[in-house]
Amino acid sequence: MIFLPTLENIQNVLSALRKGEVIGLPTETVYGLAADATQDHAVAHIFEKKQRPSFNPLIIHGYSQDAFQGQVIWNDKADMLAQTFWPGPLTLVLQRSPSSSLSLLASAGLPSLAIRVPNHPVALNILHLFDGLLAAPSANLSGKVSPTQASHVEEDFPDLLIIEGGSTSIGLESTIVDLTGLSPLLLRPGGISREDIESIIGPLKTPSFSPIKAPGMMKSHYAPSLPLRLNVEAPLQGEAYLAFGPTPYEGPHILNLSQTKDLAEAAANFFKMLRFLDHPPFHGIAVAPIPLTRLGLALNDRLQRAAAPRAL
Ligand code: TXA
Ligand code: MG
Repeated sequence: MIFLPTLENIQNVLSALRKGEVIGLPTETVYGLAADATQDHAVAHIFEKKQRPSFNPLIIHGYSQDAFQGQVIWNDKADMLAQTFWPGPLTLVLQRSPSSSLSLLASAGLPSLAIRVPNHPVALNILHLFDGLLAAPSANLSGKVSPTQASHVEEDFPDLLIIEGGSTSIGLESTIVDLTGLSPLLLRPGGISREDIESIIGPLKTPSFSPIKAPGMMKSHYAPSLPLRLNVEAPLQGEAYLAFGPTPYEGPHILNLSQTKDLAEAAANFFKMLRFLDHPPFHGIAVAPIPLTRLGLALNDRLQRAAAPRAL
């Protein structure tokens, strides 16, 4: 359902966001599927709605550069780009700060975060009043084109609370620049030209691999340091166990992704539980079978990658 950005409707949006619900948010690039970026469950609902068979890291939207204080580690180039192009269609990938309160699921377990300040009055108004950060991928089902009008969002998500923001002025996703390494990388061309960015921080490199199409292939992608065994009903001595649903096993080495076999709950818990178990004295992590339906597809995809032999 599409709602005009009246005071009353904005209040409804804010209370939906606080409850961990997902809404349709206009930005100047494309409409986003937005939820509270600090709530794992809210972020899991975004992935559930998108129906993507893998977890793609999401862009975190804030009201201003200050809104990201304590979430990422700034550097000079990032500072210059933010001051020049924000609010606007530029996303910066920076190291996640150890003090970050953002959901690990939102960044698909990566040690970095993608952040931006959108240049749209309705988005900025909502971010300002929400006084927090919103994770938002483009508001289309996986495999469909990005929406530039509220009605496009409604076609894919008829039950979603969508705020009307008119036709998006840019109509193309934000440009993504990765500033976590020695040289800045252009990860995705978009609403701000390469030339405009290079005029501020110098040459951008283009990665030879494609981190956008296959985020799981990214070198920096989180992989546990302990070996992983999948589809395990009974853990071995010395193994930590990530259960799914009722289990007879108990103890400090057992964590349950979801007692009730709720896949959204399992997705919300996944990255933090995996990190929690990924250390000695355990010498491996066994993971219970997870069904290949809904969010289980993305969970299994992530597990397969984490269990695969690693290139050095
Ligand atoms: O214009 C936009 O950027 C729109 C609006 C809604 O803000 N959002 C958007 O989100 O295009 P999405 O999820 O469709 O694309 C986000 C891209 C993904 O391809 C993802 O791989 C990349 O951002 N990304 C997110 N976090 C990343 C990270 N930590 N490192 C590298 N790439 C990242
Ligand atoms: Mg997209």
